[in-house]
Amino acid sequence: MSESQPLPLIERPRRLRRTAALRGIARETHLSAANLIAPLFVKDIDTPEPIASMPGQQRLPIDGLVDEARTLFSRGIPGIALFPAIDDAKKTPDASGALAPDGLYPRAIRAVKEAVPALLVITDTALDPYSSDGHDGLVADGQILNDETITLMQEIAVLHADCGADMIAPSDMMDGRVGAIREALDTMGHTDTAILSYTAKYASAYYGPFRDALDSAPRKRTGIPADKKTYQMDPANSDEALRELRLDLEEGADLVMVKPALPYLDVIHRVRQASDVPVAAYHVSGEYAMLHAAAQNGWLDLQATALEALVGIRRAGADAILTYFAKDAAQWLRESGAGA
Ligand code: PBG
Repeated sequence: MSESQPLPLIERPRRLRRTAALRGIARETHLSAANLIAPLFVKDIDTPEPIASMPGQQRLPIDGLVDEARTLFSRGIPGIALFPAIDDAKKTPDASGALAPDGLYPRAIRAVKEAVPALLVITDTALDPYSSDGHDGLVADGQILNDETITLMQEIAVLHADCGADMIAPSDMMDGRVGAIREALDTMGHTDTAILSYTAKYASAYYGPFRDALDSAPRKRTGIPADKKTYQMDPANSDEALRELRLDLEEGADLVMVKPALPYLDVIHRVRQASDVPVAAYHVSGEYAMLHAAAQNGWLDLQATALEALVGIRRAGADAILTYFAKDAAQWLRESGAGA
């Protein structure tokens, strides 16, 4: 064989990887700030409190929340998902704090909508921030009550919509809540308030840092389950995600979500293929914490791994990603001048 003779290859995929310009043309998936939603924590405090297990994230007082909302919006982030950190002393078994019209959550929603009206505010109807049991639903006789919880969530959803919330996001996994919330919103004239359903929310150990942030872990007490396995999904299942999807679409969900993201990319993909509404994925607190922990040890490059994770979630089929990296990623994408 003569030395200068090329191999008889007709296809050489490397031709399209030769320069940045060629790679740009060949790129199939794009990541931009417009895909990212920032989860934020608000608390009745005067100064921000750092969250140890989520480096860079804080519990914010309402004025700090408003500043953060402005910054995010200026970086091209279209929305925030807001979570309230409630003092332990105010948590009760009936989670009634969630219904106070002048409570922390309603005040925070109004403040953000007033300051940055075009920023989408997504609110949560699960009871866990207000529940002394740390559960998303009401607890009686060691059971999580489905239908009673839904009645409460209908009232919470209407309260949030009254305050200007753009989207209601039930994260509780009770059966039938999307339809019930839709009906309650419509009855009260909130026909334009959207529902972002946590459609396939798994009973995941990756929520640990979030539960630190809100001090909302299910409490270990006699007669009360210390985990959420009777309502959140079994990590081993994905057909079941399609069943939840069918129900949410029948009940009127405007967007559907899979959570967590990276361990469930196959579920995101299946939901994307079966769904005719936008699909969101929640890149959760533990996924954020583990990249930060490795980066702090000098074991991984934070920016590169975070952007790779986010583009992977997009490639699996997510239109929107809830991620604690939203603010940083928007900045990184702007600096690099292009999608990842
Ligand atoms: C509670 C809720 C959780 C998260 C969002 N809403 C925790 C849980 O279900 O226990 C987790 C988010 C994260 O880990 O980033 N309804």
